[in-house]
Amino acid sequence: MARGSPRPDDSTLVFDAMHRRDVPAVSAIERVSFPTPFPPRVYRAVLADPAARWRVARCADRSSIAGYVGWFLAPDARAHLAKIAVAPAWRRRHVGDRLLRHTLDTAAHEGAELLTLEVRVTNTPALAFYRKWGFAELYRSPAHYPDTGEDGLILAHTIIPPRSG
Ligand SMILES: CC(C)(COP(=O)(O)OP(=O)(O)OC[C@H]1O[C@@H](n2cnc3c(N)ncnc32)[C@H](O)[C@@H]1OP(=O)(O)O)[C@@H](O)C(=O)NCCC(=O)NCCS
Repeated sequence: MARGSPRPDDSTLVFDAMHRRDVPAVSAIERVSFPTPFPPRVYRAVLADPAARWRVARCADRSSIAGYVGWFLAPDARAHLAKIAVAPAWRRRHVGDRLLRHTLDTAAHEGAELLTLEVRVTNTPALAFYRKWGFAELYRSPAHYPDTGEDGLILAHTIIPPRSG
């Protein structure tokens, strides 16, 4: 979204599968969101993984992507959140909330009972985000991130099964 342009209404976002053609836009968000971003070739590879679910929050006019999320379904009824990121211009507008809600709902329908993730101990906005959602800390993993040597926190959120009928 260009600086100074009117901010589209958040209700115009649609949640959609990530496609190979989205990789350049996703990579642009990735580069400004993570210390060691996945390169585009990694995105092209993970999109081909049948256990992976990658979704984007797309502006309804298809002009841009506000954020994305990726998670994997493990055989032990566990979903693991690999990535969640929101473009800087869209942050603090509940796009992250909506991506996480969408993930929890979809994972519940696929039979997952727990959502786990890893987060850097210095990532204050993400920690506040996960705290709001009630994630529990499972353990602290020392020097978890080889790029900076930072510790990681392994967090988990119980998934409520969808109501039947
Ligand atoms: C973490 C991230 C996805 C949050 O996305 P977002 O769309 O800005 O978050 P939301 O607007 O949905 O915020 C939801 C809640 O999270 C918390 N929160 C989010 N960003 C915050 C910040 N910068 N400071 C404090 N609290 C924050 C608040 O509790 C907020 O609720 P509120 O607005 O009602 O107070 C976003 O900051 C991001 O893309 N960061 C870079 C990538 C990253 O670190 N991903 C996580 C890796 S583990």
